[in-house]
Amino acid sequence: MLPSRRGLRPTTTGREIPHDQLDQFSPPAIRDALVAAAKGLDGVFVGPSQVSEPASLAVRLRQPNGPWEAFLHPSRDEFAHIHRAGFLHLTVPGPWVAPLIEAGWAEPHPIGRRPEWPDTIIMLYAPRDEAELEVAIDVLQISHRHATGADTDSIPSSIPSDTAAKETTTMRAVAFASHGSAPEVHDLPIPTPAAGEILVEVAASSLNGFDFGVLGGHLQGVYEYEFPVVLGKDFAGRVVALGEGVTGFTAGDRVFGVVMRPTLGQGGFAQYLAVPTSIGVAHIPDALDDDTAGALALAATAALNAVDAVAPQPGETVLIAGATGGVGTIATQLAAARGATVIATARPGEATEYVLGLGTAHAVDFTDLVAGVRAVAPNGVDAVLHLAGDGTEASSLLVEGGRFASTVHFVPQRSDITVTAIMADPDRATLELLASEAAAGLLKLTLTSYPLAEFSKAFADFGSGKLGKVGIRI
Ligand SMILES: NC(=O)c1ccc[n+]([C@@H]2O[C@H](COP(=O)([O-])OP(=O)(O)OC[C@H]3O[C@@H](n4cnc5c(N)ncnc54)[C@H](OP(=O)(O)O)[C@@H]3O)[C@@H](O)[C@H]2O)c1
Repeated sequence: MLPSRRGLRPTTTGREIPHDQLDQFSPPAIRDALVAAAKGLDGVFVGPSQVSEPASLAVRLRQPNGPWEAFLHPSRDEFAHIHRAGFLHLTVPGPWVAPLIEAGWAEPHPIGRRPEWPDTIIMLYAPRDEAELEVAIDVLQISHRHATGADTDSIPSSIPSDTAAKETTTMRAVAFASHGSAPEVHDLPIPTPAAGEILVEVAASSLNGFDFGVLGGHLQGVYEYEFPVVLGKDFAGRVVALGEGVTGFTAGDRVFGVVMRPTLGQGGFAQYLAVPTSIGVAHIPDALDDDTAGALALAATAALNAVDAVAPQPGETVLIAGATGGVGTIATQLAAARGATVIATARPGEATEYVLGLGTAHAVDFTDLVAGVRAVAPNGVDAVLHLAGDGTEASSLLVEGGRFASTVHFVPQRSDITVTAIMADPDRATLELLASEAAAGLLKLTLTSYPLAEFSKAFADFGSGKLGKVGIRI
């Protein structure tokens, strides 16, 4: 059985693979091994290609007498060339063409459309790892035998010629199958981007309280659950396909954001995800890594929206209840950067050290919140960010006319204060601002990441007070 090439095919222009699809290129060691295999073929000459760009390595049956003297076929002289990125253009025996294309390894070379050329010239996608290298070397060997007129019936180790396999159409994802069932790793169909959507190959995501709300069924009546429901509200990765009408994004772009789909079904704990481009997605700056970008979007947007809502002025006092979590980590830094005196909740010990390291002026144990805050702000605080804990207690610490913002939809019963219920709004400008601040080192994310297969450990960590964010690497 011809193995299927994993993942999506590169998006080609019909002539070449656009060079921004870096994930479709061969790592240098793999290309070196491919070149070594070409050089090792019996009786071949290698050198700059006469028919492709000279930086491509031609594989020939004899020394060329001059430019354009040979081409892939019918002379069979330069029967293959290896592009700098690892793509192989080569002739193969006729019966090999369809299986290789159908299993996702190759596409026809456009020169084969010309009537004077045969249609046995293919563009083999760049091998990306050892397993793909094995297939590429087998194809190179069969091409060599074909060019020399040798018997091509003997079958290389990785590829029988008679059976076509399907292109990979499934992906791994952490999903739950029905209300009350536990999340598990599932094989699910790779989504297709609808009009206005991009398909993202996800590199990283992170856990948020939202995921536990989804899993617990608490969003019934708010969102439709389309089972199996994939978890993960955050994502970071690379665009691999565009839906109709998408502008501003191209295949290969690094993107991150918040999954803003109208229903629950797709999520960031999956190899692929289709998201609308109208909201919740922005480019990742070069200086920001995928893990951080994948943990940034929802928590940092909620933090920025909450800080903006209470608009702390230099010298004012802000209480952040829940400062040790993902939202609190960012909110604390943002409020301190605006010149406010931050009082942050934290248990004694490591958590207290943690919030002090974020720019907090005072750390207060939330098991005795009122006494702790009154000890450092006897007249009360100007603003409260309520991210966790008892909202009534936290709001009682506000001065008259103070400002209160809650990410957990708590509304205090005080008529003299301004209250804002925060619903994170990840518009592109907000995401770009947060990403550029994180890339510049102005916002720091404390992140513990787990591979997708260890998602249960990540869930347990999130529930047991891990400081900062808990990430999932896909
Ligand atoms: N509305 C929105 O759009 C939006 C967006 C993002 C998040 N949220 C919500 O905002 C909340 C915070 O999110 P998150 O991602 O930062 O959650 P998180 O990472 O779980 O952080 C919550 C933090 O609160 C601390 N905590 C627990 N009990 C506390 C108490 N009584 N007083 C003070 N702190 C306490 C926890 O510390 P220990 O581990 O020491 O207990 C934990 O570090 C969550 O409820 C989340 O669902 C809402």
